[in-house]
Amino acid sequence: MGFYSQELIEEIRSRSEIVDVISGYIRLQRKGSNYVGICPFHNDRNPSMSVNPPRQIYRCFSCGAGGDVFRFVMDYENLTFPEAVKVLADRAGVALPEQNDSKEARQQADLKAQIMELNRLAAKFYYYTLRQPAGKRGMDYLRGRGLSDETMNRFGLGYADAHGRNLYRYLKSKGYKDQFLKESGLMQADEKRGMYDKFWNRVMFPIMDVHNRVIGFGGRVMGDGKPKYLNSPETKVFDKSRNLYGLNTARMSRKPNIILCEGYMDVIALHQAGFTQAVASLGTAFTVQQSVILKRYTNEVLLTYDSDEAGVKAALRAVPILKDAGLTARIINMEPYKDPDEFIRAEGAERFQQRMDEAQSSFFFELEVLERQHDFREPESKTAFFRALAGKLLEFEPGIERENYTEAAAEKYRLSAEQLRAMVRQVGVQTGGLQKRTAPEPVPSGTRRRRQEDAALRDQKLLITWMSSGERMLRNICRYVEPEEFTDPLCRRVAELLKEQQESGRINPAALFQYFTEEEEQRQVSAMLQDTIRALDGQEEEEKALQETILRVKRSSIAWMTGHMDPNDMEMLQKIVRKRRELEKLHISLD
Ligand code: UTP
Ligand code: MN
Repeated sequence: MGFYSQELIEEIRSRSEIVDVISGYIRLQRKGSNYVGICPFHNDRNPSMSVNPPRQIYRCFSCGAGGDVFRFVMDYENLTFPEAVKVLADRAGVALPEQNDSKEARQQADLKAQIMELNRLAAKFYYYTLRQPAGKRGMDYLRGRGLSDETMNRFGLGYADAHGRNLYRYLKSKGYKDQFLKESGLMQADEKRGMYDKFWNRVMFPIMDVHNRVIGFGGRVMGDGKPKYLNSPETKVFDKSRNLYGLNTARMSRKPNIILCEGYMDVIALHQAGFTQAVASLGTAFTVQQSVILKRYTNEVLLTYDSDEAGVKAALRAVPILKDAGLTARIINMEPYKDPDEFIRAEGAERFQQRMDEAQSSFFFELEVLERQHDFREPESKTAFFRALAGKLLEFEPGIERENYTEAAAEKYRLSAEQLRAMVRQVGVQTGGLQKRTAPEPVPSGTRRRRQEDAALRDQKLLITWMSSGERMLRNICRYVEPEEFTDPLCRRVAELLKEQQESGRINPAALFQYFTEEEEQRQVSAMLQDTIRALDGQEEEEKALQETILRVKRSSIAWMTGHMDPNDMEMLQKIVRKRRELEKLHISLD
């Protein structure tokens, strides 16, 4: 995966005891055979992070962060893998070979890393330009919007001057090729002019991912030109639906909520006023993926969308997405100002805090919008409103929460709670909302298939956990299960690697992380390796549980092959028949 040999990586790992290393960053306390501490990767007060010395890995049970010692250092210090290797090598006193000429090293790194490196250079270039005499217009503009130097530095703000080709020249001087620059999203090209900068005559907002890597840019005109903001196109590293502006700092803010707003300038103004938990979507509607990401860091989201009609619409669309992700949503009222930036400039941070404290639950926000759509002087319209209200109440599970909201709504609209409850029952019966709960529908076949898949995946993950629980287990399981019997690609890969380790006699679960570069894969792998098998009553129980798991995995592998085979493939058919027979006769005994 890059610059250093496998042996060297393992040498550094063996001298970087994970508890030692992590203790250098956060406080760890011993708990049984593990160590626990407060996870630095999300906002938490409880010790959700667990560090496992035998396996040399860590995992947070709350936000899901996890990996080996290199991953911890990468995430904590916002480093790339080679940089983390260097930090740990220095710490352990392991000498690293001289890096070859950096050009060659660049060629080895994958395209993503190259684009991010290019973005970093561009961000530095814009940053530098803003702070030069040539950047005066940009500086005046940003100061005019009330930003302090410290804020501009913190967000890495920059300036693309009116020349239109300076970044291009700079990057060429660094040896970059036109073809690559075209893919980066930083350049444009046409027949007449050739290559030129996408951004010019704009103040620049670098957009960073949670590891502070520059993935794209937004650039604002300094005045009324159009478009107001120009954004990087989606590239290999810039996915607008999976990132949020400001999350890199907001996730460290240790605040009880996250403030979700619409604009770059809103985020910056909020951070400057001390609300360091503010984030914004990237010029597009709020997405499901973004809600899932936010849930890693918080349970409550405060929405501060623009107070115009478009803003209200956007908020109404975001609320159900947030609720589906298990987040509670409240809405901050910005009236009479357009957005949080304007509010804070006019009224200050304290008044904003007041508005936050008064933020309305999404339920009442939705109701008020409904209210405006109905005319209470018209009996029909009024009835329609109450039916809609009853429908909203049905969205809560029956029980204490629905009851609380029913009472609150009854009070607000001057009804008796009994009246409103009756209406909820009535609407529920009419729309099937209540029937659904009392008589569950048959599971549609599509759903049933999903459940089977989920169960199969669970078994495979469990078996991986068994395999990584010790040399003896691994040896035993490898006698009965082939890696190819894992139908999930990630599980299969892990099984292959564990089998290789078993055969070479060097068992080292943490070394597996070398083979998974994607953060999401590392999370899943660390979950499998970190889960501990619940202590079972004695060896007999343990063997039984393991045997069952092995059989289930083998059975679902056969089912999978049967479902995916080409009906004319006789060889495959014979193989399946043979496997079925073997399974019938299989007797698993552990040594
Ligand atoms: P707004 O128009 O509300 O701008 O767009 P703003 O954030 O208040 O900006 P200022 O205060 O006038 O500088 C909100 C967000 O929508 C995206 C940007 O992400 C912006 O921050 N946007 C807006 C664009 O991508 N392009 C545009 O032309 C306008
Ligand atoms: Mn604004």
